[in-house]
Amino acid sequence: MSLVSIAREGSIAVVTIDNPPVNALGQALRQQLWDAVAALDADAAVQAVVLICAGRTFIAGADVSEFCKPPVAPHLPDVVARIEAAAKPWVAAIHGAALGGGFEVALGCRFRLALDSASVGLPEVGLGIVPGAGGTVRTPRVAGVVAAVDLVTGGKPLRAAKAQALGLIDAVVSGDLRAAAIAFAQEAITKPLPLPASARPVVAQEAGFWDEQQAAITKLAKGEVAPLHALACLRKATEVPFAEAMAFERETFLALRGSDQAAALRHVFFAERAAPRPAHLGAAQPLPLRAAAVIGGGTMGAGIAAALRDAGLPVTLIERDAAALERGVTNLRAIFDGAVARGRLTEAQAAERLAGVTASTDYASLAGADLVIEAVFEEIGVKRAVFAQVAAVCRPDAVLATNTSYLDPAAIAQGVPNPARFIGLHFFSPANVMKLLEIVPTPDTSPDVLATGFALAKTLGKIPVQAGICEGFIGNRILKRYRVGAEALVRRGVAIAAVDAAMRGFGFAMGPFEAQDLGGLDIAFLQREAARATGQDVPETLGDLLVRAGRKGQKTGGGWYDYAPGQRKPQPSATVADLLADQIRAEGQMDGPAIAEHLVAEMAAEGQAILAEGIARQPADIDLVEIHGYGFPRWRGGPMFHAQNRAG
Ligand code: 3HC
Ligand code: NAI
Repeated sequence: MSLVSIAREGSIAVVTIDNPPVNALGQALRQQLWDAVAALDADAAVQAVVLICAGRTFIAGADVSEFCKPPVAPHLPDVVARIEAAAKPWVAAIHGAALGGGFEVALGCRFRLALDSASVGLPEVGLGIVPGAGGTVRTPRVAGVVAAVDLVTGGKPLRAAKAQALGLIDAVVSGDLRAAAIAFAQEAITKPLPLPASARPVVAQEAGFWDEQQAAITKLAKGEVAPLHALACLRKATEVPFAEAMAFERETFLALRGSDQAAALRHVFFAERAAPRPAHLGAAQPLPLRAAAVIGGGTMGAGIAAALRDAGLPVTLIERDAAALERGVTNLRAIFDGAVARGRLTEAQAAERLAGVTASTDYASLAGADLVIEAVFEEIGVKRAVFAQVAAVCRPDAVLATNTSYLDPAAIAQGVPNPARFIGLHFFSPANVMKLLEIVPTPDTSPDVLATGFALAKTLGKIPVQAGICEGFIGNRILKRYRVGAEALVRRGVAIAAVDAAMRGFGFAMGPFEAQDLGGLDIAFLQREAARATGQDVPETLGDLLVRAGRKGQKTGGGWYDYAPGQRKPQPSATVADLLADQIRAEGQMDGPAIAEHLVAEMAAEGQAILAEGIARQPADIDLVEIHGYGFPRWRGGPMFHAQNRAG
């Protein structure tokens, strides 16, 4: 199949790559590019070459699906070198994204031209590898070492304008990219050519610079190895000749490609891309979402409203009375002000986000909503009363959703006319930041409404995972098992701080006890108490003992740990030791890795049960829930991937 075609515009040849969906550089494409260079070198009528791509994007990188197979020639570094050494100058014409190997191909071209909407980057560290076709060696020669360190070790793509400011792009254009690139090439051949990237000098840095970078990256990476290897490649690129640095980069790339971390990150990469379009949705069509509403402006409601506004949807916010409405709007304003303070929004954008919210205590304002998301107190009576009012005023086809954490959405939907439009949409706090959305259909939910949940996730930039109905759905159910497992270790004599340190060592930002102190122990306590009140046999937890003693976490000055006033640093607590003394058998000692492996195995065991019950559809969904909702380290691939790898 022809993935590369060549056209002529006078003395300019236009090489077009057409390898859907993202022009990834699989073996066939590498070979055809290689052949194109040879053919054009041999063609005396050609003076310059424009390299452009069909479809949604420029080359998105190497073909990641080839990474579990042995590399096959022509290898990408050789293709890039071939383009760079071509007898005629090549001009990369970039639209969409030039990423990884795609940007490395562009760096092999003598010039880079990009549409103003394009971006470029070297995201390889996100796949547990380093650039493998000269990215770490050419980038510092083109943009300087400091910019290269950012680009390569951070992995974040840059917009065209920023890339141009750094010298990574020669010209930014709008409109007809092909025509602009041909005109650029015609002009370029009338002037002396710049040096190819490989021939440009690179400025050596002091050892102190590298030490500083290494310390900063080690801290950020929390166990992830690729960013540090990327830094080592960049350092090498400044210390040895080009060819030697290329060899070092390639060796590092190939070694990392076969590593556990890279396998885990590839698993997550493909799981994330598969998540928005699960096959079982079939031909179901999402309903149009033009206007949304949120009931309840508390922690979750305000966050959900902010997420909807960030996606450009007009939002109606309903609260139970004027004072609560005022608090809700204040919550929302605080979110947008926070975004301004962090430089994410301008004042004007924040004002526009807030202006798109209609705040009201009158349910009649919901008449035009396509989607209503309820985020009121976690009480079935309150939720049912809310939906009775909502259903009375909404269009009969408006999608009605509950953000409940633990209640049964089908029970909440009882009495709602047309329950086929009812669904659970479980957001995570802070809802405008956290990427996970658990989608919980009831037995009555129609396929189109289910598809609407997935479409909403896409609109909001979230990762959707479908969950069946059980207490806590996927994520909170595993969280419960994790916490029970952690408490069981404490009962066996493992120190609270040792459990937290072990989970941080595994790659979590926080251990289970620190996290409870931050979020508050009382929420889960009240939930257990409510279950006990209905006659359920819920065993007393260690957390219950602490809450009964007034220790609800940081907000009360102490929970599992003590906190000095105004401080967030957990201090082991003598009071807690006393409170729990008769619950603890002083026998157990476990090292950090053993603790972490034990608790992750507990998560995976609960995951297995969840799969067996059909609550989750596939192991990768559970991994996505844990990574995007609960801080499971991405580079470990999620509990199911991790457990399977250890078993296999
Ligand atoms: N290799 C193989 N398949 C890829 C791919 C890649 N590099 N990038 C994307 N795909 C596939 C996806 O799996 C998906 O497949 P599906 O339709 O079967 O599910 C399809 O392409 C579309 O992908 P997205 O849904 O992500 O498409 P978007 O339009 O939302 O985004 C994109 C486009 C921004 C280019 C995004 O796909 C992306 O970020 N891709 C990965 C870029 C990357 O990581 N590149 C580096 C690769 S490693 C490398 O180049 C090593 C080199 O240094 C030697
Ligand atoms: P919250 O207490 O911060 O907010 C609830 C809001 O609902 C309050 O502002 C209250 O005034 C309003 N409200 C109560 N009754 C109402 C009514 N009849 N009409 C209109 N508004 C009414 O609670 P939070 O934390 O935002 O939780 C809301 C829901 O989201 C709960 O079901 C909870 O289980 C769920 N949830 C909470 C998460 C969290 O981390 N806090 C995470 C995911 C889901």
